Amino acid sequence: MESNMTGSASPPPGYPLSPSGSGPSTTAPGRLSEGAERGVGGSEPRNETMAQERKVFWSVPDVGEDEARAVNEVLKSGWLGMGPKTKQLEQELSAYTGAKHSVVVNNGTSALLDALITLGIGPGDEVLVPTYTFVATASSVIALGAKPILVDCDPDTFNVGPKEVETVLAKHPKAKAIVCVDVAGLPCDLDALRGVAEKHHLPLLEDAAEAFAGEYRGKRLGNYDHVTIFSFHIAKQVTMVEGGAIQTNRDDLVDRLRLVRSHGEGKEKYVHVEFGLNFRPTDIQSAIGIAQLRKADRYIALRDKIARRYMHELGGHLAFQKVPDYATRPTWMIFMALAQNKEERDRLNQYLNAHGVDTRLPWPPIHRQPYFVQRFGHVECPKADATFARIVSLPIGNAMTDEDIGHVIDVVTRFYKGAP
Ligand SMILES: Cc1ncc(COP(=O)(O)O)c(C=O)c1O
Repeated sequence: MESNMTGSASPPPGYPLSPSGSGPSTTAPGRLSEGAERGVGGSEPRNETMAQERKVFWSVPDVGEDEARAVNEVLKSGWLGMGPKTKQLEQELSAYTGAKHSVVVNNGTSALLDALITLGIGPGDEVLVPTYTFVATASSVIALGAKPILVDCDPDTFNVGPKEVETVLAKHPKAKAIVCVDVAGLPCDLDALRGVAEKHHLPLLEDAAEAFAGEYRGKRLGNYDHVTIFSFHIAKQVTMVEGGAIQTNRDDLVDRLRLVRSHGEGKEKYVHVEFGLNFRPTDIQSAIGIAQLRKADRYIALRDKIARRYMHELGGHLAFQKVPDYATRPTWMIFMALAQNKEERDRLNQYLNAHGVDTRLPWPPIHRQPYFVQRFGHVECPKADATFARIVSLPIGNAMTDEDIGHVIDVVTRFYKGAP
């Protein structure tokens, strides 16, 4: 039975409860977790008006009794580290997406690192990375001593496409790999990107950290010959609280992906046959992942409903990420709305937060991140600059109620009517 953990007990830190279904604000107080607050901007403003208004959080996970039961079972089993539950989750993930191989890890960043190491990326290598992404896509490349070569985004989808990648490859013919990102849960044009990768004899790594359960031309992400990674962080479509997975249909990569996950240790204990690190999940995390995965389709349907309502009811005021025909199942980890310009976006963002709607401004592109600029200097990516300047991301999440959605729509509408 699926139900939310509710009641009067206060939520443990970093573990907000799902809506309790009573009282004036049905979205329970709490914060996702420290990591979930990493979005740029965020919001903590308080004022008189807001005190009387509903508070809608940017993303509230639906974690409750199913997960508590699953965790309890693991705690009582005597096997807490990576073990049978992780194996079961790997089998269930493969069944869900159709991918031949699934390797579960302790977070999405580890999935990226494991995949990059497995693909042979190391010191001095150049790797194409979209500039319009969360920092982990680029920092995992940097962590291995390689250099991210930034690719500007398509202004309609915010993803990189074949045109953008070819332009950069022409200037960096020695690049060793192409990383694409399914921004906010919108699948990239995979056939086209795979075509470019094959033409240049380069591996394609798909960072689908934000796009679990997504489909490209009716086929689930992960069920490909290239390597795909997912994040199961707490704000994602399916969560292990912190967790991730790597999927591929390639038999020749899977042993190495598994070795790299666990210090490169071979069959003999303490004998390390590959370079690797500790990317292992615990069975506690994997048990949560199993419970969540069973509800994935319900979560995606809810996210789809929220996105459609926003687009239908706010389309007169805001623009949205374009969903091309090939993206047959976007999974809306983040809902990105675009104002006319930065000035309007900033005013809208402030208004929303002052009226109980928690937002994020995701995210300054990599070429604008202070660390990247210090280390690699200035890079021109004008389309990502123009896109980021207009974006505000509205609340979306697995525990969002119709009332929450209605409140967000109402506040945006009031802003555009010039209400105080
Ligand atoms: C595009 C992208 N890549 C990688 C990651 C890293 O995943 P994690 O937070 O699970 O380490 C994220 C996290 O949100 C992401 O959005």
